[in-house]
Amino acid sequence: MEELTQLDELLGCRTEGDRREVSPCTLVIFGASGDLTSRKLIPALYHLFCGGQLPEPFRIVGVARREKTDESWRAELKDDLARYARSKGIDETVWGRFERLISYCRGDLTDSNAYEGLKARLQGFGDQRLEKNLLFYLAISPSQFAETVKRLHAHGMVRKDAQDDHWQRVVIEKPFGHDLASARELNRQITDYLHEKQVFRIDHYLGKETVQNILVFRFSNAIFEGSWNRDSIDHVQITVSEQLGVGSRGGYYEEAGALRDMVQNHLLQVLALVGMEPPVSLDAEAIRDEKVKLLQSMRSISGEEVAKQVVRGQYFGGELGGELRPAYRSEPKVSPVSNVETFVAMKILIDNWRWSGVPFYLRTGKNLPLSASEVRVQFRPVPNVLFAAKASSGMDANSVTLRLQPNAGICLGFNGKVPGSTTRLDPVLMDFRYEEEFGAYTPEAYERLLLEAVAGDSTLFIRRDEVETAWAFVDRIRSAWQGKALSNREFYAAGTWGPEAADALLGGGAPGWLNPEA
Ligand code: BG6
Repeated sequence: MEELTQLDELLGCRTEGDRREVSPCTLVIFGASGDLTSRKLIPALYHLFCGGQLPEPFRIVGVARREKTDESWRAELKDDLARYARSKGIDETVWGRFERLISYCRGDLTDSNAYEGLKARLQGFGDQRLEKNLLFYLAISPSQFAETVKRLHAHGMVRKDAQDDHWQRVVIEKPFGHDLASARELNRQITDYLHEKQVFRIDHYLGKETVQNILVFRFSNAIFEGSWNRDSIDHVQITVSEQLGVGSRGGYYEEAGALRDMVQNHLLQVLALVGMEPPVSLDAEAIRDEKVKLLQSMRSISGEEVAKQVVRGQYFGGELGGELRPAYRSEPKVSPVSNVETFVAMKILIDNWRWSGVPFYLRTGKNLPLSASEVRVQFRPVPNVLFAAKASSGMDANSVTLRLQPNAGICLGFNGKVPGSTTRLDPVLMDFRYEEEFGAYTPEAYERLLLEAVAGDSTLFIRRDEVETAWAFVDRIRSAWQGKALSNREFYAAGTWGPEAADALLGGGAPGWLNPEA
């Protein structure tokens, strides 16, 4: 019972009654004038403040190069909050109290004065806890991560071996490296100044309610966990499709591509949660140990196998939702002869006892017909002896669909008898929807992640060995693509489900890819 309560507290839906234990501190956001701060971080902090979840006292200091005052920055944030907050409208009284926590500190991260200015600001709070309990959020260019940590250390704002009760943590946005070698190097550099337990590598997918619910669903429901293995499951499909194209992010995307941007992190994280063994406890390390073991069990795909098991694609112009979308090669800051992939589908085999022989199919892409993320677990069919002839359109095997977004929920597909004097079968669905069951309260991923980082719980962040294992896996695929131009069959029209070659991955027969529904 105690274990279940713990499970609910750690991973389940947060209810009004849940409270993380948090100590007074200052959150310092580097890259404060960027999009992430105004679209995600400040709205998340505002909602946490509204819910009384932030520590008392608490401060937010933004650091960036642009000239701003506290007042002008607060006014900008308020405008953006009105646009991006999940709650309808801003409560003026609450905002008035919240904005007093926020201040702005102009500074260039390559200049020592920026750090001295920040230090003086922290000292000015006149409270040791606000000066020394520090959560640094690096919403800056990845090339600045290591140098910034080094300078924070040099200016005495992060300490690896603190002798007192104070703590410092650093949250690092993705991408964490662009391949295994750079991720290792970055890990080496930052762990000169920080213990692994002080490093919080973000993957915002882990902050999504439904992604957290994967573990609750699996490990608190005997009916599913008992059949979650090679004896009962035929295959698993993980789809993260996006309706948006690359838009204004062409510069970044040319360096990343879908494999680095989505597969290395979000899709492999979801795969790890769906496939991992039960952890020995709900400790961050116990959970992350099992995730990394699953990632290490993925059979590597390299050389000639890449062409058989991985399909890449790039969109050309097409119609989506009534509008004409340009080809990737015509997007701003994209080379007109770019070979960067905007779509990836792959078949992954997991060489462990539970999953031997069960393929996991992953796919993600931009400019696809729908924005949806879901995991479809397809069970093996029953023997074809009793009812097969009675099914109206061939008998479906059971399936469980974990809908991560939108319409978050879980859907069970099974066969039922159509009422009447004959024995006719039809597939039916049992559909659980978060909103219907728990109301529309769905915190944004960043709310959960910021709260966990303030509380010092790293369960929902990526450990060093996880990030490195994931890079090793995708690097082999990337090197097989290196220098190979895209062929005609690797293009897809915007508004379609990717190149046709992706269908062949599943053998070309039924059931094929099961596309999310609108
Ligand atoms: C980001 C990627 O990490 O995730 C983007 O860089 C992508 O390219 C985004 O659009 C998808 O996140 P979500 O939460 O909208 O599914």
